[in-house]
Amino acid sequence: MVTKSVLVVHGPNLNLLGMREPAHYGNATLADINNSLLAQAKQAGITLEAYQSNAEAEIVAKIQSLASPSSANHKVDFIIINPAAFTHTSVSIRDAISAVNIPFIEVHLSNVYARESFRHHSYFSDIAVGVISGLGAEGYNAALQFAIHKLNQ
Ligand code: DQA
Repeated sequence: MVTKSVLVVHGPNLNLLGMREPAHYGNATLADINNSLLAQAKQAGITLEAYQSNAEAEIVAKIQSLASPSSANHKVDFIIINPAAFTHTSVSIRDAISAVNIPFIEVHLSNVYARESFRHHSYFSDIAVGVISGLGAEGYNAALQFAIHKLNQ
């Protein structure tokens, strides 16, 4: 049996978690979040890579690198992405994720709908399997739990 694989993509400024606006984003660091996801993945017998970048072009390149000539042979089976500020701005990351045609869940630590109106629009939500917003770091674990469930079906 081929081991299933999940990629977690963290967008700009999420490297500052733990010290960044804790009222919105909580006290967990990015390493805390990633370590929790890695432990959950290990327990489920899947591989997980966590990737963070502050640069739009780097995130596009990372997602493009998942493209396989055969769509039945994806290098990654599921993506969990918090595009952070790029949620509200990036057609190019949206297009990259559409191009590789890998199912994904959009995660936000904060409830973006309870915040400024410019955060209410996402370039990702309409093409996502689902969206989790406002559950803090637990949102990532919930997304991974769903992904594991789907990948085991
Ligand atoms: C965020 C919400 C975005 O509006 C913001 O730009 C972020 C983080 C969240 O996780 O709540 O950087 O995606």
